[in-house]
Amino acid sequence: MQKVFHPTATTFVVQETLPAKYYTSPDILGVEKEKIFGGWTCVGHVSRIANPGDYFLAEIFGENLIVIHTREGRIKAFYNVCRHRGTRICDKDGRGVKSLQCPYHAWTYNTNGNLIGAPGMKGVKGFSFDANSLISVNLNIWDGFIFVSFSDRVKTFAEEFAPLIGRFKKWNIAKLVSYKRATYLVRANWKLIFLNFSECYHCASIHPLLSKLADAKSGNNDLTEGPFLGGYLDLTGDSMTTSGRTCAPYVGEMGDDEKRGYYYSILPNLLLQMHPDYVMFHLVFPLSAGESLVISEWLFTPGAFNDKGFRPEEAVEAWDITNKQDWEVCESAQKGISSKGYKPGQYSPRESLLAAFDRYYMRIMKSKR
Ligand code: FES
Ligand SMILES: [Fe+2]
Repeated sequence: MQKVFHPTATTFVVQETLPAKYYTSPDILGVEKEKIFGGWTCVGHVSRIANPGDYFLAEIFGENLIVIHTREGRIKAFYNVCRHRGTRICDKDGRGVKSLQCPYHAWTYNTNGNLIGAPGMKGVKGFSFDANSLISVNLNIWDGFIFVSFSDRVKTFAEEFAPLIGRFKKWNIAKLVSYKRATYLVRANWKLIFLNFSECYHCASIHPLLSKLADAKSGNNDLTEGPFLGGYLDLTGDSMTTSGRTCAPYVGEMGDDEKRGYYYSILPNLLLQMHPDYVMFHLVFPLSAGESLVISEWLFTPGAFNDKGFRPEEAVEAWDITNKQDWEVCESAQKGISSKGYKPGQYSPRESLLAAFDRYYMRIMKSKR
């Protein structure tokens, strides 16, 4: 969505958009699965599983994971695959469970993934409960965001995400609580959603409400190359809400610099938006070359929920309206790019982050990684 940075017409070197195949080809998506999504991918925020025994299911490129808060207080992720004959164990999210039971033959696992029940198998020669724990995937938590990795060959999270560690601590994101989660099916390639998020060149034409709440030509970017891109936008009021007023207590000690809208795209699938009174994020999951699932979530400080002035719907509505405008224009772009009439176009200086995104993307796609 929105961000701004305006190299001048004389300092910006014009760059072409990518050829159509990068938005339409299943083969390219297959390469992206390994090279772009083969590292650390975000599956959600810890507040979704705030208590022991809470879990949710996450689906990434057909792999279904159980992301669980164990009875011992840790966050873990397992393949949603029974160790008996491979059946999917859970078909929906759960709350406060003591164990997970496969519906097929009732093999049962504790929240740590250990097999604790297998009818008729106790004492069977050569059978080991210990050898039949659920298979876990690598997991790391940054600012409350849960990231998973299917591979042991990737860099550590601390190496990969070094530019972001500690960067947003003023917003206390790890301590915030989810008020609302919305799921959108967007018939557009995942990169079009990233690109659209990274410019406000379109704000005047697509977002009448948002254009009243923020100055689309204001602000600056502080991450301008690489996998993480973004910066801030000046607000015309106090927050990005339908009323332009804050709708909840501040999420932290907000100085003048924090009383803005901050917007960052974080490869491979997290779009982060920070405001003085709430934080929201989108997770983008490719379903095919031309379809993406977007999960958007609004987070507030825990104290907000008991605050008399708490009007979270003002934040939800502002972005639900804006999101739908964005998804619609992404779908329209997907249609045009899929036409024989599409030829790579030229980015404007107000789309410098998109040019940077494409440069980094092509570097990774051509790498041996
Ligand atoms: S496949 Fe899960 S108990 Fe048999
Ligand atoms: Fe937008």
